[in-house]
Amino acid sequence: MSAIEPPLALLAELTHRCPLRCPYCSNPTELARAKDELTTAEWARVFREAAALGCLQLHLSGGEPTARRDIVEITAAAREAGLYSNLITAGVLLNAALMARLVEAGLDHVQLSVQDADEAGAERIGGMRGAQEKKRQAAALVRASGLPLTLNAVVHRQNLHNLPQLIDIALDWGAQRLEVAHVQYYGWALANRDALLPTRAQLDVATRLVEEARSAHRGRLVIDYVVPDYHAARPKACMGGWGRRFLAVSPMGEVLPCHAAKSIAGMRFPNIRDSSLEDAWTGSDAFNAFRGTAWMPPPCRGCAHAERDWGGCRCQAFALTGDAAATDPACALSPSHGLLAAAVAEAGEARFRYREFS
Ligand code: SF4
Ligand code: FES
Repeated sequence: MSAIEPPLALLAELTHRCPLRCPYCSNPTELARAKDELTTAEWARVFREAAALGCLQLHLSGGEPTARRDIVEITAAAREAGLYSNLITAGVLLNAALMARLVEAGLDHVQLSVQDADEAGAERIGGMRGAQEKKRQAAALVRASGLPLTLNAVVHRQNLHNLPQLIDIALDWGAQRLEVAHVQYYGWALANRDALLPTRAQLDVATRLVEEARSAHRGRLVIDYVVPDYHAARPKACMGGWGRRFLAVSPMGEVLPCHAAKSIAGMRFPNIRDSSLEDAWTGSDAFNAFRGTAWMPPPCRGCAHAERDWGGCRCQAFALTGDAAATDPACALSPSHGLLAAAVAEAGEARFRYREFS
């Protein structure tokens, strides 16, 4: 195998606990309990090892990362390790005192999720009363702190009609960047696929609106756009390729090639409690299973796009075909491509299934 390059970014899933219950949550269907979560010292070790491995960016995520009582100490550990830290938060637990302590600890960036533009829709989707107002206040705290703010809007069949208003919210709340991300279907999102998949017409309108807004707000708001695989003819280069640029550590210390990798039944992952991050990255079976192109079956093998999209998404291949080594069905060349059109044709369920936390 050719030399393994270092990862660029680490996703630290600090906890699965979260006050929201979004029906497209990408956390596994089996959640980690608080008592099993990595300690502050264990996270600090992970950050040091990530930096030594070559990582530059750290995403502090969850669940809701601010549900950790030691979020300030964890942020300080990130700064001490020399990592650029991005807090990915629902914002509903943020207050002025916590914001000030996070800034003092060295936080670099905040990414705030928003579930819908209208309050009732946002509260229905997130399953939490009063969430929208708390998010608005959180955005104001971030802006007042001087940190850069990205708004993250996950879009789907039941909120796409409000995309223009979501763009207005990003402008009103002072975000420099808006990520308009269509739902990706793993974990809990797959259980709600019938209620979330957009129609082709909805997707086309959304794509046009994003293009128009990009021109209208150039210089003031950057808009990133993640399109849904289910209407695509080619897959995305998920994670920039398995084991190439990115790694995640779960709340209990599993080292994962992507945030959804646990959805691949039967795959075993190294744990930071009995492995170094470097050994997990370079030497583990899990990371080497789909690294590069040697593992690829036809039609990926020999395909001109193999080193561009890396065969698409392993989690999606597993979710739809039961084989993580199959070509991603998002590719028109996959023998399973028809599954996507069939799922789109079946979509239209109005009600969401929500997780129940014990
Ligand atoms: Fe990508 Fe494989 Fe499809 Fe080629 S056949 S475009 S490598 S997913
Ligand atoms: Fe796991 Fe795409 S989400 S490889």
